[in-house]
Amino acid sequence: MDSRRVHTPSSVLVTGGAGFIGANFIRYLLDTAGFDGRVVNLDKLTYAGNLKSLVDVQERLGGKSYFFERGDICDYERVLEIFNTHAVDTVVHFAAESHVDRSIYGPKDFIETNVNGTFTLLEAARRAWGERKDVRFHHVSTDEVYGSLAETGSFTETSPYDPHSPYSASKAASDHLARAYSHTYGLPVSISNCSNNYGPYQFPEKLIPLMLLNALEGKPLPVYGDGGNVRDWLYVEDHCEAVWKVVTEGSAGETYNIGGECEKRNTDVVGELCDVLEELSPVRENPSVKVDSYRELITFVADRPGHDRRYAIDCEKIKSELGWQRRHEFSDALRSTVRWYLENKEWTADVRSGEYLRWVEKNYGARP
Ligand code: NAD
Ligand code: DAU
Repeated sequence: MDSRRVHTPSSVLVTGGAGFIGANFIRYLLDTAGFDGRVVNLDKLTYAGNLKSLVDVQERLGGKSYFFERGDICDYERVLEIFNTHAVDTVVHFAAESHVDRSIYGPKDFIETNVNGTFTLLEAARRAWGERKDVRFHHVSTDEVYGSLAETGSFTETSPYDPHSPYSASKAASDHLARAYSHTYGLPVSISNCSNNYGPYQFPEKLIPLMLLNALEGKPLPVYGDGGNVRDWLYVEDHCEAVWKVVTEGSAGETYNIGGECEKRNTDVVGELCDVLEELSPVRENPSVKVDSYRELITFVADRPGHDRRYAIDCEKIKSELGWQRRHEFSDALRSTVRWYLENKEWTADVRSGEYLRWVEKNYGARP
């Protein structure tokens, strides 16, 4: 056993495991990290939950080391039943409404899932685990809780909370609840706050997959405002590795920032994406595109209301205390992300056309 290990999970409840990061995390646990216990995926299968991201995992390991449980994290009885059925000793809580634009136009689901859902999970964990200390509740959160930065500086774990969107406010509330359960009830809770992820299986509403698919179809690439907003980009597999490190080696009661140390303006991200696409799927071979280069599709549109200008994460704590370091460079990982989308057109077509929704209804019943 790794001498740094402070928690050894045997049955891990991954909430939101059918989402972008959750599905990548389940793959990481079962295929890369060498975890040989039980992984239980609890997911409501909202528009963002996609079990097709895990079809091969289900085929290889379903009923052996991988179990899918459809359910809502706001449903206390259902959550408690899952804790007991699977003898859960570790929660890695990804389930959330995650898209900022959606939170601006309809905040209610964000409060329900992100705040009440997290509260319900914490309550179920407290009930199921009692005074146990050989357990861990890991809450996955975002750098957006810290607000927006000016030209310089970066967020540390002690930066004051200053959320600006309904999404980030709901995540901030859930962080506070997780911390309160640690302080008040002694529940072994850890928290991580991460910057922008990209990689395979990301729902095409987020910047990179949205622009990628629009470009391939010759549609405008809608950059908000002046495109000068800065995000700190991290490849999803690096995030998954960091989360697992915190769960197994990080101390309960602690918060760890996770970031890519890779600040980029949105215009630069979209420009680089266009160049990679040009290399892997040239415009001259793409009959859907009527211009001479993907870059010509870039279109500046009205800004996102309350748009945060700049995020940057100081991840010195996880680097020095847990020895985590991102493995992927932006340019290489962006290229492999583009390649993945080019090679998995069926996945994206399903997700966008509604075909996937019909598949879920057939196999799992009506959607919420
Ligand atoms: P996502 O939207 O792709 O996936 C969310 C998943 O949660 C979906 O599978 C959905 O079906 C499920 N879900 C939603 N409501 C539920 C409910 N009530 N009960 C059960 N399941 C429910 O999100 P993501 O991008 O994978 O983000 C995962 C987590 O990581 C979120 O907590 C998010 O705040 C956090 N995070 C995301 C990023 C990022 O860049 N995507 C960065 C930092 C932190
Ligand atoms: O920082 C972590 C957060 O990153 C996570 O907590 C969120 O769950 C995740 O969605 C992401 O939030 P952002 O708002 O930063 O991601 P999004 O992909 O929506 O946008 C990235 C940047 O690109 C942001 O400055 C807005 C801009 N943008 C986005 C879209 C969808 C555009 O200019 N045009 C677009 O069409």
